Amino acid sequence: MRRYLITGASRGIGRAIAEKLAAPDVTLLLHGRDTVALAETCQSVKSGCARVISLIHDLALPKGVSDLIAEVGGDPLDLLVNNAGITVVKPFGEITRIEWEQTLGVNVTAPFLLMQRCAPHMPPGSSIVNILSIAAKTGFAGWSAYCMSKFALEGFSQSARAELRDHKIRMINIYPGATDTDIWNAVEGDWPRDRMISANDVAAAIAFALAQPPEVLVENITLGNLGGDL
Ligand SMILES: NC(=O)c1ccc[n+]([C@@H]2O[C@H](COP(=O)([O-])OP(=O)(O)OC[C@H]3O[C@@H](n4cnc5c(N)ncnc54)[C@H](OP(=O)(O)O)[C@@H]3O)[C@@H](O)[C@H]2O)c1
Repeated sequence: MRRYLITGASRGIGRAIAEKLAAPDVTLLLHGRDTVALAETCQSVKSGCARVISLIHDLALPKGVSDLIAEVGGDPLDLLVNNAGITVVKPFGEITRIEWEQTLGVNVTAPFLLMQRCAPHMPPGSSIVNILSIAAKTGFAGWSAYCMSKFALEGFSQSARAELRDHKIRMINIYPGATDTDIWNAVEGDWPRDRMISANDVAAAIAFALAQPPEVLVENITLGNLGGDL
């Protein structure tokens, strides 16, 4: 039996990953904050996997992260997907300290602590997937807090990958361009959903990377609409 932990699985890309990776020999540990939305994900995957466990925690809070780690426990973990993430989109002059710290907490500190605490329980051949963004490579006006967080996770991931090689744990970084999910609902402006990729496109890329032989590491996958960035 394999155990997979996916954060932010209540909607969007995380839900699509859960649906893609559900398999009869897999226990899915699905994390979210919205109990109703997470229950919908659990319902949609439960017939396809051995067991599904829902984990409700707010990753902006240190206690939320430590409680999640405690609930995951010390049994072997074959996959950790750091997917939960938030955006704050506004000129940097208007970003509040709380918004800055929440962005750091959810997008950087939670993945760091999950990797630090889960990696010792991950056997050779297991994988960590970090959902980064094209905003981990390029800055965009209005997206400074978000880009800060993704650039930070990028640097951490590259270094962690080098350390994890000796443990035969694969560190796979995914860099989606604009993806049609709820995350855009709170972003002001008229964003063309028809020029975005889908959450299923991102999940399919992850499934491809995970399906490689254990000694093969797909390090980075950048995905975007053929038509270019928005
Ligand atoms: N959509 C894009 O264009 C795009 C592009 C590149 C990268 N990404 C990245 O992809 C990942 C998933 O984003 P998405 O587009 O699927 O967004 P989404 O539909 O808004 O989903 C975000 C997920 O993160 C969880 N989350 C947010 N704040 C949280 C908190 N404080 N504590 C715990 N969980 C929290 C949400 O949980 P609840 O809903 O249960 O609160 C939800 O499950 C993020 O890391 C994002 O940065 C997205």
